This record gives sequence, C-alpha cells and structure tokens, in this order.
Amino acid sequence: MNEQPFNSLLETLHYLERLGIKPGDIDAFATSWKPSLFRIGTRLGETWSEYLKTRSLFGTLPSETRGFLFHAFDETHVTRLFLEKTYRRIGADIPSHAKIVPVEHHLAHAATAYYFSGFPSAAVLTVDGRGERDCTVVWSVRDGEFEKISSVKIEEGSIGYLYDHVSMRLNFNEYEGPGKVMGLAPYGKKDEGIASRFQELCKLECDDAPYVFADRFRMKSIGRMYDSIADFLTDGLSLDWNPRQKPTTPVANLAWHVQDFTETIMEATARWAKQQTGENRIALAGGVALNAKANMKLHYSRMYEEMFVFPAANDAGGAIGAAAYAYEHTLGGKMRHGALDNVYLGPEYDDEYVKNVVRKGKWNAEFIGRDLNTVAHLISKGQIIVCYQGRAELGPRALGNRSIVADPTRADTWRTMNEIKGREYWRPLAPSVLQEDKEIYFRNPVDHGFMILMFQMTEEGAKRAPAICHVDMTSRPQTVTRESNELWYELISSFKGIKREGIVVNTSFNLAGDPLVETPQDALKSFALGGFDAIYLQGWLIEKKPGY
Ligand SMILES: [Fe+2]
Repeated sequence: MNEQPFNSLLETLHYLERLGIKPGDIDAFATSWKPSLFRIGTRLGETWSEYLKTRSLFGTLPSETRGFLFHAFDETHVTRLFLEKTYRRIGADIPSHAKIVPVEHHLAHAATAYYFSGFPSAAVLTVDGRGERDCTVVWSVRDGEFEKISSVKIEEGSIGYLYDHVSMRLNFNEYEGPGKVMGLAPYGKKDEGIASRFQELCKLECDDAPYVFADRFRMKSIGRMYDSIADFLTDGLSLDWNPRQKPTTPVANLAWHVQDFTETIMEATARWAKQQTGENRIALAGGVALNAKANMKLHYSRMYEEMFVFPAANDAGGAIGAAAYAYEHTLGGKMRHGALDNVYLGPEYDDEYVKNVVRKGKWNAEFIGRDLNTVAHLISKGQIIVCYQGRAELGPRALGNRSIVADPTRADTWRTMNEIKGREYWRPLAPSVLQEDKEIYFRNPVDHGFMILMFQMTEEGAKRAPAICHVDMTSRPQTVTRESNELWYELISSFKGIKREGIVVNTSFNLAGDPLVETPQDALKSFALGGFDAIYLQGWLIEKKPGY
C-alpha cells in the first residue's frame, strides 16, 4: 500500500508492447482520483505524502520543497513524477503529446458500471467508502453522458466506512473484514436495542439525497466521526471473541444489523434513483457493490428490469473506469459498449513455460491435456483439487482459472475446505454451476458469471449441494457457459456425468493471508504447502498420493 503502482504500469506497458503498442504511443494516462476535488487541507496533506514517496524513491528526499506549494495546485504533478520514474526504468521518456487526465473517483467507478453493462442508458449507483468528498452517488447516464443526480458526502454518511468500522469492532481488519462480516451476519438475528440505534443513525429518502446520517453524528474529523458512530452502535455490547471460534450472540447480532442496514440503504438508494431517473436498468460499482447479499436484495425486489454489477467493483476497477471515461470524453473515442462477458484479463503463461516449471520442480506429473475426466473423478471421491489454467481473473473472485474445486454434495466439504484455506470455519463456500442447471439449485436466478450476486437456494438445491448452502439458505454462484470458459465448463460437465450434479464448490486459490495465486510457480508453491490432494496445472495433473 505504501509504494506507488510501478509494477502495474510496467506490466501494462509490457502487455501493450505484445499487442504492438509502444510506450511512446500512449495518448493519455487517466487516474481514478481528481485531486482538485479534495478539501484543501486534505489535498495539501495527501500531495505532500505522495510527493515525499515519489521523491524518496529517487533515492533522495525532496530538496526543492519550495516547489511543493506550487505543485500541490497542479493536480497532474504527482502523476507526472510517477510516470517519469516508471518510464525511466524502461529507458524511455513519457510521450510529450500524452495527456494526464484525473477522473473524479466516483465517475471512474460509474464508468466501469455503465460502459461494461451494455445498457444504452441506466441509473448508476456508486457506493464506496469514500471518493474525494462523496461516498454515495446517484447518476443518470444516457449515451455516455454522466449526470450526477445526487451525492452523499463522507460526513453525511458513508456506508463503506460504517461497515469497515463495525468490522474492526468485530476483530477483523478493514480490508478482509467486510466480506467476512457479510458471511457472519446470517448467524445473528434482530436485536431491538441495536435496531433502535441504527434507526437513530440514519434518515432515508430525503428530498435531495437517498439517505443521510442524522446531524448529531457529523464531525469535521472523518476518522473520529466513524469511530464515534461505532462507539454508539456497540456501546454496552460484549464483542470480545475469537473469530476462529463460534460467534457469540452479540457478535452475530451486530453483524446481522450492519448487513441489514447496508441492504436497507442500498434498496432505498436504488428506489430513490428510480424515482429520479425513471430508468428500468441499474448498474452498480464502488466497494459496497461487492456486497453480494445487498445485490441479491435488489435483484429480488424486481425494482429494475435489468441489473449489472461491475465485477471489480472496488478500487481494483478504478483504473479501467478512468481509462474508459478518458478515452471517450478526453480523446474523443467511442467505447464499444457491449456487456462484459468475461474477466479473464490477467497474465497467462504458455504451455511450454508451464512444462518447464513442472519439469524443473521434478514433480511427478502426468500430462492429461484438456481431458478433465480424471480430475472430475478425483473431485467426486471427495478430494480437494486445484484448477489452474490460462489468464488470471480480474477482481476478487476466482472463476475457474485460479480455483480450488471440491464436491458440493458432501456436507463435510464445507469444513474441510475452510480448514485447508485457513479460513474461519463458519464462512460460506460458493459454487460454480452449469448455466443450464441454475434453476435446480437457485430461486429465480439470472445468468451471472462473476460471483457478485447471491441467490436464495431452492429446498432441493440445498439438499443436493449442502456444502455451498449458507445457514440462511443463500449462495453466491458463478453460472458457467462453454463460451465463457470451455475447460471449466468441461470439468463441471464431467463431474455431472459422474455425480448427476452440474455444480462444484469453487473458492479462490490462495492460502490464508496470501493474495490470489498468479504464476505457475506460485501455484506449485501453494499446492505444496496447502492440504490439497491434486492440482491440474494447464494440462498437467499432479497428485500428492497418486492412485488414492
Ligand atoms: Fe473506490
């Protein structure tokens, strides 16, 4: 977090070179923040710290600090320093014609939601911890023109910050916490005492905004404001627990309430947006749009005819939105504007490279190519298998290319998988299902390839695939087609040929505390260290106990 994203830009430049685009050909660099929109105090502080970071990477601390004040008011200055430094690493200069385009943070999120939805017009909600000053924005977007209908400022009520702060009170960190709290919430229930505090906190559906926090909670210092709101919500609750153990009643009930509150706000915001825009389509992005359960509530409300959530809804998608917006609004291009059909956009390694990695490691590997019947058999026997192939997925979900796979018909898979991944035992597992079989397992589902939308499970689905049914009968599936990922589709189909169920457990391939695996070397290292039975590594099958 403390280093600027040099490697990301270097990787991007290398990737573009493979497509025949040279570093000197780039016309614009867009960022998903617009410094001029920050409060002046924040701006000076942030610019100074970024300035120090960038300068110190040159090996010296700034000697020309006199220039700082001047540079603090040039909102492209820090970006330019970063670009110069990165280009120097490849022995080049940044192209003199290239523009630097700072894009407002929520606008960058809105651009991801709109441009990749395939909708010609839509109500767009961007719900986030914070932008420059906004935390929730309602947009009306028509033919690529973004109109900000309403915004809630950070001091007026950030749902993302609230969720983060409550997660921290529940002994989680602010990055992993919200996802875990969403999984914890169904173990709780309504508590009148906590409910009345959440009611006091917020007023819904005002004239000029979808919601605002009550005046008495507002403070100038944002950090203090959300700390004091968390104090208010948790006052008198005994939250001393170890997340590895059984959730206590106050812990589970607080988790239930913060999730319920988030769902209520998201629904109210969507309703307000519909009244204001008259749209029948909604698109969402921003960190809070990762809340697949709140998205489920919107889906079942049938408030909108169509709904799209950008898969990398958090800041991982910010650069894409900024680039799309700058391409159309600064460079005069025209986005192709189709519905996003897959997110296999990350690095990949060719078969020869993978073969060498396998040989070098002296693994006892069998080459099985693209015939995954053997793998499906191992899964059906209760083994926990890694599936690694092709390009890495964009965003937080593994969708068959960096996945751990298991049999969902065995209830004990739930606990085994969590143990292997070093996750808390109560956290749910998600499935990948053949698109044509989705109705067997889920109530009124839609095709959805990105695991960012939950559904209620059918009684039959819960019986047939107990390992992926959470305690509130919900699940967060990826629906899979042959077109979206042929090998992954074949694997699930082969499993169906054996077990009569076109569904598997699919969780991201990483060990506790590690990021998602990316290279074949990472894959084999995590495979060796983790309790997996076998790995399918782009054509190669490696079993820990062959013939088991
Ligand atoms: Fe964001």
